Amino acid sequence: MIEYRDHVDGITPRQLIGFFVGWPHPPSPETHLEILRRSSHVELALDRDAVRVVGFVNAVSDGVLSACIPLLEVLPDYQHQGIGSELVRRMLSRLRHLYMIDLTCDPPLADFYRRFGMRPSTGMMIRNFERQAGS
Ligand SMILES: CC(C)(COP(=O)(O)OP(=O)(O)OC[C@H]1O[C@@H](n2cnc3c(N)ncnc32)[C@H](O)[C@@H]1OP(=O)(O)O)[C@@H](O)C(=O)NCCC(=O)NCCS
Repeated sequence: MIEYRDHVDGITPRQLIGFFVGWPHPPSPETHLEILRRSSHVELALDRDAVRVVGFVNAVSDGVLSACIPLLEVLPDYQHQGIGSELVRRMLSRLRHLYMIDLTCDPPLADFYRRFGMRPSTGMMIRNFERQAGS
């Protein structure tokens, strides 16, 4: 049974184990929780039976004009069940009053995001890999 929440109240680092699959230097669960706490918006998917977070998306917004969506992930065992789509739908609904909603993704994921009315753009970025686990 998947439950969705828009806050991290009561969430512990133990419930966040398993994310950042494939990252060479992933943030710890403690750092992950801090990321979510400091985000302006979060949406979580919890497996009530396993008492763990199985998917999340966060946004960082000025609350007036713009927001960016830095992270979206669903644990591998829970993918392809519509959880990622539901997280994106919920997040975009909360941000719909804003002018700009931006995210970056690898080209194969563009069709996933197109389903929600997003369209491709050209982006620029910096990645400080020595800071990948958080600073
Ligand atoms: C992207 C992600 C969040 C989707 O979560 P999900 O719960 O599986 O999403 P849904 O079940 O709602 O939709 C799945 C669909 O998304 C698309 N999709 C998911 N991952 C994809 C990928 N790597 N490449 C292309 N399409 C992808 C497929 O169309 C897939 O359809 P299918 O289930 O018929 O195969 C999940 O695959 C994930 O966590 N990936 C690793 C982290 C990541 O890439 N995050 C996005 C950063 S921009």
